Amino acid sequence: MAQNKSIYTCQNCGAQSPKWIGKCPSCNEWNSYVEEIISKKHDSGKLAVQISTNQPLTLDKIETLQNKRISVPIEEFNRVLGGGIVPGSLILLGGDPGIGKSTLALQLALVLKDRKILYTSGEESLQQIKLRAERLKTENNNCLFLCETSLEFLIAQTEQIQPDLLIIDSIQTISTETIESSPGSVSQVRECTSAILKYAKKTGVAVILIGHITKEGSLAGPKVLEHMVDVVLQFEGDSNYMYRILRSNKNRFGSTNELGIFEMESDGLHEILNPSEQLISKVSDHVSGTAITSTIEGVRPFLIEIQALVSTAAYGTPQRSSTGFDLRRLNMLLAVLEKRAGFKLIQKDVFLNIAGGLKINDPATDLAVICSILSSNIDVAINHKYCFAGEVGLTGEIRAVNRVEQRIAEAEKLGFKRIYLPAHNKKFRYQKYKIEIVKSGRVEEVFKNIFN
Ligand code: TYD
Ligand code: MG
Repeated sequence: MAQNKSIYTCQNCGAQSPKWIGKCPSCNEWNSYVEEIISKKHDSGKLAVQISTNQPLTLDKIETLQNKRISVPIEEFNRVLGGGIVPGSLILLGGDPGIGKSTLALQLALVLKDRKILYTSGEESLQQIKLRAERLKTENNNCLFLCETSLEFLIAQTEQIQPDLLIIDSIQTISTETIESSPGSVSQVRECTSAILKYAKKTGVAVILIGHITKEGSLAGPKVLEHMVDVVLQFEGDSNYMYRILRSNKNRFGSTNELGIFEMESDGLHEILNPSEQLISKVSDHVSGTAITSTIEGVRPFLIEIQALVSTAAYGTPQRSSTGFDLRRLNMLLAVLEKRAGFKLIQKDVFLNIAGGLKINDPATDLAVICSILSSNIDVAINHKYCFAGEVGLTGEIRAVNRVEQRIAEAEKLGFKRIYLPAHNKKFRYQKYKIEIVKSGRVEEVFKNIFN
């Protein structure tokens, strides 16, 4: 009989301890230790690869991967990956439940028509996959489907089929016999990923792993998972809206600045190649409380509409709420307006919304946020041909933004007449633009310029 050894593992960070502890000493999470049983005879080398021909090489002897990348016909996906899927790489695709990870993976499997693909699912039955494929209206008879949760069986099948790409939905449902803890636990996820990693490196099969996200928003399983894989992709967006953003948080083969935008429709995900045109609503012309910002997400500029509603507070404490924009930052901007620019907003409820359910982190959005709030406050619309880019500092000064030329070019391309920019931005040749450029040093100046 195999002797079993048990160990307590933090389900948050993966730290281990021989005894149960209430608070994890490494990540400070409470009540996250779970007992996991590891069989004594556990032999982690079981699936390991012995690369016997492992010799040190000079750079010129090492083959390049560039021309071997699997180029995906979904351009947005390709770009995020840095030009296609690298053979032998491990790609982790994470995202909230229902965001469309399985749909994206299935779509990918179906469009790669000239490649051999194995799509395994531990979450859905073959019938469910077929139903989904019917919705997507794409056929591909080179793609094989399998419902499997055992790692050993999965690897055996992959060895037999020898696909170019293996898709696993999801890593949390896969389990190995060598460890006795339940599927989805930290040690199972870690062990399975490392076995898959070794297999991928040995055979050159590219693997896409779908991963769940914890309620805190990080990938379930410990950080080690992110260290192990080559690429970490995050699929995000509000599932109540149709826009989805694919970001890369880590990419050993490309830039992490790229992002892809998709739209979820009844027949699957569609790429959005011209996000600006889609994100500016046509109906809100001449309505107070909207301002357009020229923002950069990743390396791509696009224009997006900010909507604000300012109304007199019905209760003693005014409400401040925001969707898609950091609430603390909104509070800070309101304090700046109050204290530095003399706008009385203390008795006002302020609601802020970023169109399309997107989340924006670009600090250059500040100026448009402030302008939309002021516009709603005095109930005067901002000309819908004006747009903004500028970070607002604590003293009410408008600070420089990055990639200013890209922002101007995008606004000009979309037919905007005027763009408000920081006064002290880095030198650029603004003569070459047809769009009128207004540079301001402080929020009050912008306010006077727009509303006078
Ligand atoms: P799914 O890929 O199952 O999400 P995940 O694997 O990330 O949990 O996507 C589920 C959502 O997508 C579901 O709410 C329905 C929606 N959907 C569409 O709107 N259109 C489609 O064609 C498909 C397949 C799904
Ligand atoms: Mg799924």
